[in-house]
Amino acid sequence: MHKDIKEILFADTEIQARVKEIGAALTDEYSEAASRGEGVLLLSVLRGAAIFMADLARATEIPLEMDYMALSSYGSSTKSSGRVQIQKDLTSPIKGKHVVVVEDILDSGLTLQFLINYLEQHEPASIEVITLLRKKTKEQVHIDCAHVGFECPDEFIVGYGLDYAERYRNLPYIGILKPEVYE
Ligand code: IMP
Ligand code: MG
Repeated sequence: MHKDIKEILFADTEIQARVKEIGAALTDEYSEAASRGEGVLLLSVLRGAAIFMADLARATEIPLEMDYMALSSYGSSTKSSGRVQIQKDLTSPIKGKHVVVVEDILDSGLTLQFLINYLEQHEPASIEVITLLRKKTKEQVHIDCAHVGFECPDEFIVGYGLDYAERYRNLPYIGILKPEVYE
């Protein structure tokens, strides 16, 4: 285990098993739409969700497109500022497509609230949200999630795409960062 990690929450194998389950659920949900020729788009929020989406896409057996948006609200702090900015917009129009938003972690919910609102203005056929992790915190905006990978404690989480100040994204497991690293 990395010296900055207090505790491993979800091991590599556990994550992969959960990703396969969510991928199979996506195949069920969208195979009819896909067979009617309707577009399905996996949209990940850079950079944390990129690793999750790469695995999820390969666990899903329907034709799909992938796109990425970059949003920022944190800077290098561990708390959301609440001001969300688009750093990278959609590459292609989403009008009439089934958009599956793939997020790494739902904390305050402000990022997803902003994103869903933004996407709705572009008239997709549908929007669903998948988050790998949902933090158990008191001040969370309600976001309807079709799938939640894992519930996690209100601590600072890193690994499998999640960073602190751009580090730890490449850990194959998900763990709690030792508070002394950021305090
Ligand atoms: P929210 O807007 O507060 O829900 O925050 C969402 C974004 O903040 C996530 O997409 C992550 O990029 C980041 N974030 C929130 N909590 C954590 C954490 O524990 N570790 C790493 N990133 C986090
Ligand atoms: Mg994120």
